[in-house]
Amino acid sequence: MEQRIPEKLLCSLFGEAAPGLPLFCLERWQSLHETEARIQLSESGVHPLTLEELEEYGLRLEELARLELGYGWTKGSPTLRERIAQLYSGAVDPEGVVVANGSAEANLVAAISLVSPGDTVLVDMPNYMQLPGILKWLRARIIPLWRRPPTWRFPLEEAVEYIRKYRPRAVFVTDPNNPTGSYMSRGELEELAEEAGKTGTLLVFDEVYWGSELGEPRPSILEVAGPEQAVSVSGLSKVYGLPGLRIGWVAGSRSVAERVWSVKDYTSIAPSRLSDYIASIVLDPGNVDRLRSRAKSIVTQNLDFFKEMLSGNEDLLKPYWPKAGAYVFAEVPWVKDTLQLAYRLYEEYGILANPGECFELPGYLRIGVGQQPGDFRHNLTELLAALGRLRGG
Ligand SMILES: Cc1ncc(COP(=O)(O)O)c(C=O)c1O
Repeated sequence: MEQRIPEKLLCSLFGEAAPGLPLFCLERWQSLHETEARIQLSESGVHPLTLEELEEYGLRLEELARLELGYGWTKGSPTLRERIAQLYSGAVDPEGVVVANGSAEANLVAAISLVSPGDTVLVDMPNYMQLPGILKWLRARIIPLWRRPPTWRFPLEEAVEYIRKYRPRAVFVTDPNNPTGSYMSRGELEELAEEAGKTGTLLVFDEVYWGSELGEPRPSILEVAGPEQAVSVSGLSKVYGLPGLRIGWVAGSRSVAERVWSVKDYTSIAPSRLSDYIASIVLDPGNVDRLRSRAKSIVTQNLDFFKEMLSGNEDLLKPYWPKAGAYVFAEVPWVKDTLQLAYRLYEEYGILANPGECFELPGYLRIGVGQQPGDFRHNLTELLAALGRLRGG
């Protein structure tokens, strides 16, 4: 395949956003293309719900119309923080919860609050890459912990060895993992917590895909390690299908919450009053189970279709079937430069998928499987046909 990516695009994906802050390749790639793509296979969450659909979950639209649009509660309303605390089955109290604008803001304010220049931190890789970028900007000393194929399991033995050797300030883990869809078992979480406890190392988990496990449910790190040792970031964008609400949170000890809250004064002050209200209804315990089931049902149907479509076609795409999340990380055995492949898919076919280069793993594509099953069938068929043609020519 001849090289065709314009220099301008390369510079907008791999330079710096500000001194010391790497460009966020994945989000840039999506921001540049997602509203124009004909076929959307880059999303990592399940198909979003409408306000009308949320009426089935107890939302009253006429009450929304009467809502006064003030600042509300800057760390989230008491009702919403209580509902979030309930997700952790009592492991955290509502005073340990700060609501943010998406898990993206939650990750940012958590990292700024917890890490100082020169701190040693272990970082789970491959990764969504928001935290590695922020940690670099904060001038932390980053030691990567690579998950490897074919299982992509978290390298627990290496983590234990490095915790003993470096006594890091924190371990930053994205679990369930984006992009691999693997996740840690309760036993692995317990072992990590036990080791981190000996050195006073904080466990900071981005758990935005928590609740999407297709097999054995996975507890939160907060339920395993407790708030003195663990911090959990999560939100409503992925499993709950509500990215437009921009609701995320940081949960941990009261003292972590105090610091996070004061950093948030600089970033967004408060979550949207409208979103806070809707999120409080969405997180009613009965709704949580229903929405998690909805997500699993969409992903399972789409994975079944994906498997069916690929049988006999494995030399075109070699997927690592996910255990959680709403995406498939797939090796493309016939090409190394998947950025160029993703570029051609978009330019020539209007198909948007995410190149492995944005996860520091060329040779892979991340393909979203959270769309409505009817749409997914069409989208995947188009993707496989386009890949077939690109491989041929
Ligand atoms: C691991 C991870 N964390 C955080 C985010 C940000 O999500 P949001 O801000 O929509 O909650 C994403 C989005 O893709 C993600 O994959």
